[in-house]
Amino acid sequence: MSDWRTWFPFLAEPQPLSPHYLDNAATTQIVRPALDALIRAEVQLRANVHRAVHARGEAATQALEQARTAIAAAFGVVAEEIIFTSGTTHALNLLANGLGAGLQPGDQVVVSALEHHANLLPWQQLVRTCGIRLVAVPVDGDGTLSLTALAQAITPRTRVVALGHASNVTGAVLDVAAVRAMSAAVGAKLVLDGAQMARHGPVDLMALGVDAYACSGHKLFGPTGIGVLWAKADLLATLPPLLVGGSMIRQVTLDSATWADPPRRFEAGTPPIAAAIGLGAALQWLATQDHAAMLDHEARLTQRLLEGLAQISAVRVLGPGVNGARIGVVSLEVAGAHPHDVCQILDRHGVAARGGHHCCQPLMAALDLDGTTRLSTAPYTSQADIDAALTAIDDAVRTLT
Ligand SMILES: Cc1ncc(COP(=O)(O)O)c(C=O)c1O
Repeated sequence: MSDWRTWFPFLAEPQPLSPHYLDNAATTQIVRPALDALIRAEVQLRANVHRAVHARGEAATQALEQARTAIAAAFGVVAEEIIFTSGTTHALNLLANGLGAGLQPGDQVVVSALEHHANLLPWQQLVRTCGIRLVAVPVDGDGTLSLTALAQAITPRTRVVALGHASNVTGAVLDVAAVRAMSAAVGAKLVLDGAQMARHGPVDLMALGVDAYACSGHKLFGPTGIGVLWAKADLLATLPPLLVGGSMIRQVTLDSATWADPPRRFEAGTPPIAAAIGLGAALQWLATQDHAAMLDHEARLTQRLLEGLAQISAVRVLGPGVNGARIGVVSLEVAGAHPHDVCQILDRHGVAARGGHHCCQPLMAALDLDGTTRLSTAPYTSQADIDAALTAIDDAVRTLT
């Protein structure tokens, strides 16, 4: 049993619900320092930010801005480029809406059939509002994105390439260097949906060489309702806001307004102050951990899971195998059984898995599946969790097929 388990309060409960929690791709559990920071922010620092002249308001503002700095440091960027959002969905909507303002009819945005709806629908909106062409690169029968097909889809009319850094269905990790070379060759912006990959870092955004990155606090051992959009300062400077109102202005008259500089331009209204402070603490905690050991722990458990699943003949696993570029997100199909039925049986064994389309309906359509059963690991996952999942899947196969 690894030391990481001691950092997660849910494991200290006498009888935790779903004790074998393998739905980490949906939401990870909160880490103690993030929970402590969240509580402190709500109790000791609760006040509005950026406009108060009293001590409590100033302390809240300082804590919020320190969180921004900590988050920026975790991703190797500067604080002015970090925008607080409610999550990846909000971040990608903000970005697509802003980029759309500079696109012309016929300009192309390239995505893939693997994308989460959060990285598809905001670009689809631009087809309607700006007349762009949305090109979705197909995947093979296993759910794998081919770089050759991607290279063919990127043309001189491509202005944006927007892809998941890691798939929330197959766990496949994108070859960012290869994609960056393709997008740079035509001068396209490279946007990554980092919802799944951000915690498998450290993610050094400067080294990755991308233009924008989105992620969610609740998948980073932090609070819910908080996320981050990062984009290069010169890109942010060109973007209009998605939301307008208080806190994001320079000057307002009855019939006009001018915007504040980023990041404030994109943070209209009262931000999720305590959640942002909690996320800062989560990322500070993550930065102190042995990343290599953490990744190795999850890789070993994923290997155990994949090897166990290979022994069950009614089960087919999508995406990369043990040696592929992957994270601990494993989607499987039980021949002849609906994933919701599989998940119900897993639940009886105390195993929390996710069954369904995982907000990737076009992928499911391409693979001709109703959905998959998805198991996903975290640093606090134990061998016992994996073994319980394998026993439960065996039971599901016996019961349902
Ligand atoms: C790859 C991917 N992108 C985007 C999202 C959306 O994240 P959120 O619901 O936190 O906005 C998710 C969440 O499941 C995801 O897995």
